[in-house]
Amino acid sequence: MKILLISGSTRATSTNTAALASIVTSAPPTSSTTLYSGLSRLPAFNPDDDHDPLPCEVHALRQHIRDADVVLFCTPEYAGTLPGSFKNLLDWTVGGTEMTDKPAAWINVAAPGRGQGAVNTLETVLGYVGAQVLRDACLVIPVGRADVDDDGAMRNQEIVRSLAQIWSQLR
Ligand SMILES: Cc1cc2nc3c(=O)[nH]c(=O)nc-3n(C[C@H](O)[C@H](O)[C@H](O)COP(=O)(O)O)c2cc1C
Repeated sequence: MKILLISGSTRATSTNTAALASIVTSAPPTSSTTLYSGLSRLPAFNPDDDHDPLPCEVHALRQHIRDADVVLFCTPEYAGTLPGSFKNLLDWTVGGTEMTDKPAAWINVAAPGRGQGAVNTLETVLGYVGAQVLRDACLVIPVGRADVDDDGAMRNQEIVRSLAQIWSQLR
C-alpha cells in the first residue's frame, strides 16, 4: 500500500508535519510512504496554467497523487479555514482527475475542540473532487507545540503510539 502524506503547514517545526512524519516512521514494511515536501514551491493556482505542460511542481504533485493508494492530509486551521498555501495545493487538484475516487483521510491535531473549520473546508473540497473519504482512518489527536522537538520530530511517545494506530485503519 502506497500512502502519500500531505501537511498543510509550511512551518519548520510544524505539529501537523511532525504528526505525519511520525506516521511515516511507524509504517509497516508492507507499506511505502511519501511525505510531500513541495507545498511552498507550488505556484499560485491559475486556471490559465492548468494544461500541459504543467508547471513542474504541479506535475510532480499530480504524479504523487496518481501513484498513491491513499492520500492522508493533516492541516492546521488558519482564520477558521485552511491555510492559503494548502488551499492552493487543493485547487491544483481540482483540474486533474487524480483525486477522483482516490481513498483519502485526514488527521486533526489542533488543540481539543479546535480545527473543525479546517476539517469542514477540507471535507468540502474532497467531496467536490470526488475523493473517497475513509471515515475510520480520520483521526482527532491533539498535538501541542511542546510535543514536537526543535528538529520537528514528535517527542511525545504517547502521541506517537496514538498516531501509529492509523495503520490498522488504513489496512
Ligand atoms: C495566521 C494564523 C491563523 C490561525 N487561525 C487559527 C484558527 O482559526 N483556529 C485555530 O484553532 N488555530 C488557529 N491558528 C493556530 C494554528 O492552527 C496552530 O498554531 C497550529 O499549531 C499551526 O500548525 P503547525 O504547527 O502545523 O504549523 C492560527 C495560526 C496562524 C499563524
